[in-house]
Amino acid sequence: MSVRPIRLLGDPVLRRVAKPVERWEESLDLLARDMIDTMRAANGVGLAAPQIGKSVALFVAQLPRDIQEMEPLILANPEILAEEGAETAPEGCLSIPGIEEDVERPFRIRVRGLSPSGTTIERDAEDYLARVIQHEIDHLKGILFIDRLSPLKRRLLKRQLDEIRSRADGDRSAPA
Ligand code: NI
Repeated sequence: MSVRPIRLLGDPVLRRVAKPVERWEESLDLLARDMIDTMRAANGVGLAAPQIGKSVALFVAQLPRDIQEMEPLILANPEILAEEGAETAPEGCLSIPGIEEDVERPFRIRVRGLSPSGTTIERDAEDYLARVIQHEIDHLKGILFIDRLSPLKRRLLKRQLDEIRSRADGDRSAPA
């Protein structure tokens, strides 16, 4: 088990477009395993590779048992094929700790991506899982959920966001 430090808002890796995976290699299994360990240790429901400093188009997701019994979802090069409906619900991010705000997103999606077996799979998701998948796909494009808030809301959060950014700066200047 290997829990990696989570990159915070302000770290440039979170704003990069992640590099697509060409084919599934063993190094991706190891990366995915570390991401799952890191997500669980932080009590998260999803994690994208850039959040542990790897600019690779890979995410993991797993809902709490009381919501949905599922194996961790591991997907590379994810793309949304279809979306339907809309739902507004609170959202947070392990890279922006302590902030939770309502975000509107499509309620139901169909997603396609490369699975750890090396095959392309399609999967339908709705409600909370659909939200998590969309949030993680945003990460792979360098988009954070705070980008989806109104300018007014972002202004109101400015002090808290700046505080997280200054912690990110501290993390980067610390010895590795
Ligand atoms: Ni996030």
